[in-house]
Amino acid sequence: MNRIAEDVKPGIDDMQTRLIEIVARVIGKSDREHPADAVLREELKRAAGLSRADGREISRAVFAFYRWRGWLNQPEPVVDRIIKAIELNERFKERSNTFTDEELVAKTVPDWVNEQMEVLPVWARSLQTEPQIWLRARHGRAKILAEELGKCWVGDGILDDAICYEGSEDLFRTAEFHHGEFQLQDISSQAVGLLCKPQPGETWWDACAGEGGKLLHLSDLMQNKGLIWASDRIEWRLKKLKQRAARAKVFNYRVALWNGGEKLPTKTKFDGVLVDSPCTGLGTWQRNPHARWTITPDDVRDLMDVQKRLLENAVPAVKPGGKLIYSVCTMTVAETNEVVAAFGKQFPQLKPLALTNPFNPKETADQLWFWPHEVGGNGMFVAAWKKIE
Ligand SMILES: C[S@@+](CC[C@H](N)C(=O)[O-])C[C@H]1O[C@@H](n2cnc3c(N)ncnc32)[C@H](O)[C@@H]1O
Repeated sequence: MNRIAEDVKPGIDDMQTRLIEIVARVIGKSDREHPADAVLREELKRAAGLSRADGREISRAVFAFYRWRGWLNQPEPVVDRIIKAIELNERFKERSNTFTDEELVAKTVPDWVNEQMEVLPVWARSLQTEPQIWLRARHGRAKILAEELGKCWVGDGILDDAICYEGSEDLFRTAEFHHGEFQLQDISSQAVGLLCKPQPGETWWDACAGEGGKLLHLSDLMQNKGLIWASDRIEWRLKKLKQRAARAKVFNYRVALWNGGEKLPTKTKFDGVLVDSPCTGLGTWQRNPHARWTITPDDVRDLMDVQKRLLENAVPAVKPGGKLIYSVCTMTVAETNEVVAAFGKQFPQLKPLALTNPFNPKETADQLWFWPHEVGGNGMFVAAWKKIE
């Protein structure tokens, strides 16, 4: 049994009480503006004298709380709810068949989600399991790196730079991380980079580059040759991107602020533009269960508008014959099929481009869905077009 859950029993020691107090404090401080993972990081930094194992227990309990929130009774004291969530988490790990499909579909996500997409029982089940940790090795180095790190298994087939890490070391402290030998990157995000298929010497624009997860992958695929423009609306994200790029020894990029408007960061015409758009992030709800309870149906509508605008404004930057790739880590119909249908009507000069599914090379389509229960990573949607004039 989890150490924190033992806390309810008589004979609690001071340390266990302290751990559970930290969990309750994180929950008390978390809301839409203060996501639980960020609050958790702050609280763990502030708490003196915790071991790494304590930190892991606290994190597990916070995530279990939001993962099982649909089963908890709001009026009960928070400590009781934390204990119940931990027990549910353990029961699910050991006897997941004691949870029916019906209850999982009804309680895993808020009701409004059913109006935005079909909530499949297999998806709901996947949301209740702890996520896997994925790394991306430098191209061709996965096997060697997996041996160096230990407790890893390596993907095969097209996604052969992907490594699944099953150990409990703090990977950010390893020499391999500091030498830029890997990135922590979800396997579905790695699939998006592969689908872009950038070639050495080409010119690309990563329009919503954020902290650079996909930019670093594009650069690796381009063997650091050619040029990638990386833009985002938020300056601190681009600063982080530069730090990561320096560690990864990625140099073939240029950074610019872009708010998604008609005025583009450059007059360059690109071989490829990636719009890895802001979205409701339902595909990350296994990794980030707090977001299940802070995202609203209004967000779906608002983000759909942003997605359409970003795509629309990116079109002039694609050179004739160039590619436009749209990706979101969500599965609502509005942010996937509806955005793509509206875009197709507005821009007939862009033709849907067939993509080969990296998880299943027999599947070729101009829109691909990666489901967490099928790929073991985040849920993701990708569509692509080629400009014909
Ligand atoms: C899904 S995240 C990008 C993740 C990144 N591509 C990666 O792989 O690490 C979406 C990004 O879009 C940015 N963004 C949000 N609204 C934007 C806008 N109107 N114009 C440009 N970027 C925007 C966000 O700041 C965020 O960094």
